[in-house]
Formats: sequence, C-alpha cells, structure tokens
Amino acid sequence: MRIGVIGAGGLGGTLARQLAKLDHQLLIANSRGPESLALLAAEIGATPASVVEATETADIVIISIPTKAVTDLPRRLLAEVHDSVVVVDTCNYHPELRDGRIDAIDGGMLESEWVTQQLGRPVIKAFNNIFSESLLENGMPSGTMGRIALSVAGNPADARTTVLHLVDDLGFDPVDGGGLDDSWRQQPGTPAYCQDLGAEALRRALVEADRSRIAKYRAREEARIRRSIAAQTVDKLA
Ligand SMILES: NC(=O)c1ccc[n+]([C@@H]2O[C@H](COP(=O)([O-])OP(=O)(O)OC[C@H]3O[C@@H](n4cnc5c(N)ncnc54)[C@H](OP(=O)(O)O)[C@@H]3O)[C@@H](O)[C@H]2O)c1
Repeated sequence: MRIGVIGAGGLGGTLARQLAKLDHQLLIANSRGPESLALLAAEIGATPASVVEATETADIVIISIPTKAVTDLPRRLLAEVHDSVVVVDTCNYHPELRDGRIDAIDGGMLESEWVTQQLGRPVIKAFNNIFSESLLENGMPSGTMGRIALSVAGNPADARTTVLHLVDDLGFDPVDGGGLDDSWRQQPGTPAYCQDLGAEALRRALVEADRSRIAKYRAREEARIRRSIAAQTVDKLA
C-alpha cells in the first residue's frame, strides 16, 4: 500500500520505519518540509513529501502530530481525497504538557471525535496506545507467547479492519476496540493505555475503563510523564 505519514517524530517516524520494512511505499511529511526529512527518509526507505503530497496519492494517511497542530494542517487537506482512503489518528491530548486547553475536548468530546471534526473526515484511532520504543522493539510474529496487543477504534468498520491488519503485520495482536464512540477507552491514562498488555488483558482493560474518569485518567498520565521527565533530568545530571 501507499501510506502517507504526517508527523515524522518519535511515533510517526517509528511507524514509517516499521511499515517501510513491510514493503509498503511510505511518504513522510512534517511541518518544516521535505528537505528537512531527506536523511531520515533515506535511512528508512521512505519518500520525503509535503503534507499535501503525503495525502493525495495515499491508500492510508496516518496523522501523528501534536493534537494542537491538527488545526495547523491545510484546510481541506483531505477534502479531495477519495472516500476509500483510511485516515489513522495517533494523536493524544496533553493539555498541560503540550497542547494547551482545547475547550471541546475538556467539555467531553472524545479526542478522535475532535480530530474527525477538524479534518472533516472519519478517523480510526490507533497506535496512540503504545510508546514508540515498544512499537520499534517489541513486535513479534503471530502466535508468539507474550505478544503485545493493540486496540483500534473507529468507523467505518472496513477501515478499522484495514488498520487491524496493519497492527498484526507490524507484530502486534489486533484487538477490535469498537467504533469511534468507544475510542475513549484507549485515551491517555486509561487501563488500556500503553500498558503493553496481551490480547485478553487488553480486552478486559478496555471493558474496565470508566467514562466518568476520562479527565482523571488524562491528568494521571500527564503526572506520570512529568515524573518520567524529572527522573531523566536527574539521570542526566548524575
Ligand atoms: N512518542 C510516542 O511514544 C507516542 C505514542 C503514542 C502516541 N503519540 C502521539 O502521537 C503524536 C505524535 O507524537 P510524537 O511523539 O511523534 O511527536 P514528536 O516527536 O513531537 O513529533 C511531532 C511531529 O509532528 C510534526 N508536526 C507538527 N506540526 C505539524 C504540522 N502542522 N504539519 C505537519 N507536521 C507537523 C513535527 O514536524 P516538525 O518537527 O517539522 O515540526 C514532527 O515531525 C502525538 O499526538 C503524541 O501524543 C506519541
């Protein structure tokens, strides 16, 4: 497949790298333009592209940028893109640490519902719930004991199925996380978020999530990231 990845940082760059190994044709884009991506693209076997180029001929478009940057993407970016193109949203909302307050999400809109609204296109929420290091290092062949599972949520169902196959190809057990309405179950800080669980445990974690706690889950995850950054700073000082 031809896959356009918008955002070539920790997660987008890793996804592009792993997908290129599967012989997909990868186009990668960032905010600074294709020239800035020449080295990375050559290293991983992708084609550097503008944001528009990364979308116009792709079968799958992966949006992997800070949530707040979604509003900076060109207006009507996906307007001319064929309905069959699957749009994947890896974004997580970190209001205190990175994104600033987005009133609609703070008011209860699900993160991927907000991205859908901004893009004017349905999105499939995936790969938001694994750290890039784990994505890079922990993929295993299907059937391997201890294989990590990843959930995928969003509509339409056939687009979700396409992404579930990608998850499997990348070395992770695919778990159907339901429609976009259920995508909150894998948002930051939920029991299913970045825990590297196996398929059964992940399904349980998705069910255990409590919608009334979304804001608390998010705050808890931001507190965890703060602690992790502080620990790394101390390590560097030591
Ligand atoms: N890192 C992880 O382990 C991880 C795991 C799960 C989910 N996520 C989520 O996935 C998203 C990406 O995370 P990340 O860690 O890869 O972030 P990152 O390392 O900070 O990289 C962000 C990327 O987005 C690009 N970008 C920013 N604004 C853009 C715009 N307007 N147009 C095009 N590209 C733009 C940046 O390009 P420039 O450098 O040129 O500005 C950069 O390549 C975030 O929402 C994050 O919360 C991350």
